Amino acid sequence: MRRIYLDHNATSPLVAEAREAAERALGECFGNPSSVHWAGAEARALVEEARGRVARLLGIDPGTVVFTSSATESNNIVLRGAARASAREGGAIFTCATEHPSVLETLRDLDVRGVVLPVERDGRLDPACLERALEREPARLVSVMWANNETGVIQPIAELAAVAAARGVPFHTDAVQALGKVPLALGALPLDFASFSAHKLGGPKGSGALYARPGAPLVPLLRGGGQERGRRAGTENVPGIAGFGGACAFAARDLQARAERLRALVRRLWEGIEAKIAEAHCHSALDTGLPHTLNVSFAGADAEALVTALDLEGIAAATGAACHSGSTEPSHVLLAMGVPPALGATAVRFSLGPHTAADEIDALLDVLPALVARVRGADARR
Ligand SMILES: Cc1ncc(COP(=O)(O)O)c(C=O)c1O
Repeated sequence: MRRIYLDHNATSPLVAEAREAAERALGECFGNPSSVHWAGAEARALVEEARGRVARLLGIDPGTVVFTSSATESNNIVLRGAARASAREGGAIFTCATEHPSVLETLRDLDVRGVVLPVERDGRLDPACLERALEREPARLVSVMWANNETGVIQPIAELAAVAAARGVPFHTDAVQALGKVPLALGALPLDFASFSAHKLGGPKGSGALYARPGAPLVPLLRGGGQERGRRAGTENVPGIAGFGGACAFAARDLQARAERLRALVRRLWEGIEAKIAEAHCHSALDTGLPHTLNVSFAGADAEALVTALDLEGIAAATGAACHSGSTEPSHVLLAMGVPPALGATAVRFSLGPHTAADEIDALLDVLPALVARVRGADARR
């Protein structure tokens, strides 16, 4: 059976550059980057090459890149650091309702006040809403994701960061899903922190990064041997880091052309769905969102059942919040956008990758109408 993978927002297969770089670190460059001898120097060179590659994709100085174990860790460093850094000064941490659990759950776990701002029906946080909230009470941090993992909706990050900067409040963005998909040019924005994860763009799992602007109030979460210039202790995951660098080098090449190709494929998919399937609702922004993500509700068709039916055809897609697929909770992202719970429970996410081909989209469109009809029929009989 032909296998078609349309779940790149959950994870994306290793690209060749990432594999080659990681294999060098697993083999010949086995040293500890902190060692002064030749073996250490070879591993150090791989780490620094990767730092340069990540920085180039982001338009920032390599010295501002801190390697971590994941974006979950990067988000924890920033939120937990903010809670401790300004403990005496007080102030709330502001975020928005559609964030990833690694932000929302961390905030819930902290002993500081968290303010979760609502989003508009299009999934975006209105900068005026943030401005009003910051007028009402003091803040120690604002954290808003660049692009949503479920819908691909892109936040007005430049405007939001400017609102925070105008009040001298540090600003963090979880940019996991945007990296390598849309140009980021972080250096030009009034941002303090940004989180990234290698495995969403063809790097290895368990490899992340944190951008910290020079002078940003970074409080290390892990202390120990002083690695990463004291910002994140622990012997570096050299294969993970090298693989991350390889993935960024791949992503930087033809980024714009790839994005345009994927946007056209997503449009082809949505237009095919609209033409063939009644009562389909699009939750993504086809022109302004991430180019490779389409989130659609097929009213009356349970998403879990539909994704299982697709899987039986060899097609991998995701329900609701795919980072933890398998949960039957309605998606907090769609609920926050005002989608009724029953419709939210029918949402399926298709996320394309750099090698997704037009005939894979057509193969999906060939089987989808019958599968939706079958699942709808089964649901109606229940
Ligand atoms: C928006 C977003 N933030 C954070 C994460 C967590 O990344 P990681 O798997 O590196 O912990 C994910 C995906 O899992 C994500 O989609």
